[in-house]
Amino acid sequence: EKEYDFILAEKKGKVALLTLNRPKALNALCNGIIQDLIDATTAIAADDTVGAIVLTGSTKAFAAGADIKEMKDKSFVQAFSSNMFAEWGHIARVTKPIVAAVNGYALGGGCELMMMADIVIAGENAKFGQPEITLGVIPGCGGTQRLVRAIGKSKAMELVLTGGMIDALQAERDGLVSKVVPAEKTVDVALEMATKIASYSLPVAAAAKETVNAAFELNLAEGLRFERRIFHSLFALQDQKEGMAAFVEKRKPTFTNT
Ligand code: CAA
Repeated sequence: EKEYDFILAEKKGKVALLTLNRPKALNALCNGIIQDLIDATTAIAADDTVGAIVLTGSTKAFAAGADIKEMKDKSFVQAFSSNMFAEWGHIARVTKPIVAAVNGYALGGGCELMMMADIVIAGENAKFGQPEITLGVIPGCGGTQRLVRAIGKSKAMELVLTGGMIDALQAERDGLVSKVVPAEKTVDVALEMATKIASYSLPVAAAAKETVNAAFELNLAEGLRFERRIFHSLFALQDQKEGMAAFVEKRKPTFTNT
């Protein structure tokens, strides 16, 4: 297991647990933390023994946003020519399923990073928001786009324009998170869910993730066609034969990721 400066990376069975670990800054997402996440998820992509990822922070903060101190003095030219935050897109392109386990603040870039995950489990103490407007900017890592798709225009506009926060129960009602659990259980519930996902065929889970995500990019006819073509392609897998044979033979399938 590799050591990183700003995150902890552990293996829990077939699940990689990534913990944002910059507690003094409430996990503010500096360049180093994002680079660690990119390096860790790149290593996970190459590791056949990992089937899913849990991404978490601390009890007080999943992440309180992009690092304000790191960006505050940047000029327009520096922001533009470095294409600031474009590299975060790497996290959205990870093919293995990611379950975010969120306690405390998920604000600004923290909320945006969370929305790059596939499923969100929230602790009762979680708080979500896009406070960028209070800093004289707007969300820059997907907040104006993914939030609208997650919770609709009026609720997204309210968060982006007022800079206010919603709590975990509100986030569950709005569909931003899939479950709310007691804060001390958040990581365990996420690990349990990720372990279940990792027990299935890896290429099938990757296909499922890619196909659901296509719903955000394609119109319905194209999306349905994409789904059907991916569905057809899975009949090339041994795991499809095994899964269906096991059902008929009334036994548990043994998937081999082939
Ligand atoms: N960047 C840099 N440092 C941060 C930070 C951030 N986003 N959030 C918190 N910190 C630092 C604080 O500066 C403080 O450091 P010092 O001890 O050196 O002063 C430390 O973390 C603890 O924070 P607080 O003392 O503020 O803790 P609190 O409990 O009083 O308040 C909070 C918690 C309400 C989350 C508050 O820290 C806060 O409002 N943070 C900023 C939230 C924010 O505006 N996020 C959006 C950032 S911009 C962005 O994300 C752009 C984008 O779209 C990618």
